[in-house]
Amino acid sequence: MTGTTRIADGTDPLGALTDRLGGIAYGGDYNPEQWPADVWPEDVRLMREAGVNLVTVGVFSWSRLEPRPGVYDWRLLDTVLDLLHAGDIAVDLATPTAAPPPWFSKAHPDAGPQNAAGTRLTHGSRQAFCPSSQAYARASDAMVTALASRYADHPAVVMWHVHNEWGNHNALCYCGTSGAAFREWLRERYTSLDRVNEVWGTDFWGQRYGEWSEIDPPSETTAFRNPGQELDYRRFSSDALLARHRAESALLRELGPGIPLTTNLLGTLEKKVDGHAFARESDIVSVDHYLVSADPGNHVDLALNADLARGMAGGRPWVLMEHSTSAVNWQPVNVPKAPGEMRRNSLTHLARGADGIMFFQWRQSRAGAEKWHSAMLPHGGTETRTWGEVTALGAELAELSEVRGTRVAARVALLFDWHAWWALELEARPSERLRYLDAVRDWYGALWDLAITCDLIAPDADLTPYEIVLAPSQYLVTDADAESLHAFVRGGGHAVIGPFSGAVDVNDRIRGGGHPGAFRELLGLVVDEYLPLRVGESALLSDGSRAAVWTERVESRGCTARLRFAEGPEGGPARGGPAVTRHAYGGGAGWYAATALPAPALRALLGEACREAGVAAVAEVPPGVEAVRRAAGDRGYLFLVNHTDAEAVVPVGGGCTRIDGSELTGSVTVPAGDVVVVREAPVAHGEHAANYGEGS
Ligand code: GLA
Repeated sequence: MTGTTRIADGTDPLGALTDRLGGIAYGGDYNPEQWPADVWPEDVRLMREAGVNLVTVGVFSWSRLEPRPGVYDWRLLDTVLDLLHAGDIAVDLATPTAAPPPWFSKAHPDAGPQNAAGTRLTHGSRQAFCPSSQAYARASDAMVTALASRYADHPAVVMWHVHNEWGNHNALCYCGTSGAAFREWLRERYTSLDRVNEVWGTDFWGQRYGEWSEIDPPSETTAFRNPGQELDYRRFSSDALLARHRAESALLRELGPGIPLTTNLLGTLEKKVDGHAFARESDIVSVDHYLVSADPGNHVDLALNADLARGMAGGRPWVLMEHSTSAVNWQPVNVPKAPGEMRRNSLTHLARGADGIMFFQWRQSRAGAEKWHSAMLPHGGTETRTWGEVTALGAELAELSEVRGTRVAARVALLFDWHAWWALELEARPSERLRYLDAVRDWYGALWDLAITCDLIAPDADLTPYEIVLAPSQYLVTDADAESLHAFVRGGGHAVIGPFSGAVDVNDRIRGGGHPGAFRELLGLVVDEYLPLRVGESALLSDGSRAAVWTERVESRGCTARLRFAEGPEGGPARGGPAVTRHAYGGGAGWYAATALPAPALRALLGEACREAGVAAVAEVPPGVEAVRRAAGDRGYLFLVNHTDAEAVVPVGGGCTRIDGSELTGSVTVPAGDVVVVREAPVAHGEHAANYGEGS
């Protein structure tokens, strides 16, 4: 990936930034406009007390900075940036383009996004703009130009923060302007209307287009929409926002060259925009992550998203731009984090490669939609538990400063692909119970249980650093990406592929010659029929476990079965047939799961494939204890995160110490709910580098 190497002098932008900060970035969104000016000096004082060294300013301040069209008022930012600089707090300066002011929407009523039912959405919230609106583009470019011209040379500004969570609320717009832009996008991609008709299969249901002008966005209609059209509309919509991102970035790079640029991505929280595409445009990859409090496995989802952030950053360190100190306000019931949970969350992100730990937001709001969302400085001020934990975390991150710049080693890659996600979840599939994220989470969870680290990467990423590539749910795969996986296996790698993968091409057209089209040769099998299960049904497997959701009737064309559906009715519709297969291919092997495997069987499959590929656990940890290593040169750090209620004893090698330098002999005890960072004995120079990649 090129995303993190764009700074002209060849340095690593995040490394240079944390050098400038003197440590791991720590802070959050700072929204001073919500508070009277006499609060701001206190903010800076308390930030220093908490160990904050970086704040994101201006994310939603457009209506303050440009109160009337073309009339700018810089008093707020002038004062706040100077105050922060005097307090030695650096600024990640945001373009406020996620919140066009009310005057904009009033002046351009047709610039609001329109939903699939045809309703034009009004301002009064945020991101109330059509991604293809020229009026929005003009107003937003003017705002970015004015902002960057004024502050590019301000000594507090160390990073540009483009927009906020592109596409969180407005990615899919169905208005006439979007329709026209969609047609342009299609012309560019396909050149001819005949080609569009072909790839969308418009002869089905007599949808053939005779003129470009007949094509509209796939808004609400009588029955199923054309899947090719729907899929391309997803791509177009992501690209429309990417074009805005590029336009803002070009202005910032021109007016503030040398200042690294980021945009806060949403990881698996956001289906609508292709995160990889945005990450490639960033100097520093940053992500937001929020726990779903009702999910008992939410710490595994956190780890997954951290590993996706690292994958998007091409293995380099990245920044956690937002998470919460405690409760959020947007779930049905917003439960505060338990004591110690925020620290575990933060240090897990750090363990998985974050060199910045940031929150939404610095001071909890008194008014507005997010006043019940937690913050670093809660309503109750400095007497609160949260404040105590925030200041303690700031101090601990300062102690852990030596970890920054090191890398996380992963020899396993898990393919994460927004296009496959979009395609799998279009209408009229064999089963709506087969969900993209369920598969990714199940497979990731199995690796998490095995304490094996993986990078979540795009299917077109370089596979050569890995021994194993997992494709839990690659229903759609391009010819080039399928070939890349074949080449990887021919060269000695192991590919483990999940059910219903390889079925369609880039346009959601069935691949001929039998399922799973793209992977038949690699897997040495053909799927005679996909056999989804109804709610309440299950299929008994030969290891005694039961699969729900999905089964397939597989016929071997060279593969051998490692697990079978049981004989007899309990085995379900694919009774007696292979459920897990292995196929020697080139110098490696293609493994297939012909069902959504239950957790123990999935662990067994991935464990076996990893053993064959020579990939081991990071450490010998009891269940519920997470182990991740960061390393560079001769330095190595083992992070142990105990998510259980019992203390855990983990063996460590000779010469290891705690971060405070105290010796460890043979093992380390990790108390219940605690995190311990072990400084490993220095290894011969180059050994970690070979194993774990170069650090900064
Ligand atoms: C997102 C946004 C923030 C805030 C938080 C609340 O991450 O970027 O502005 O709304 O959600 O969780």
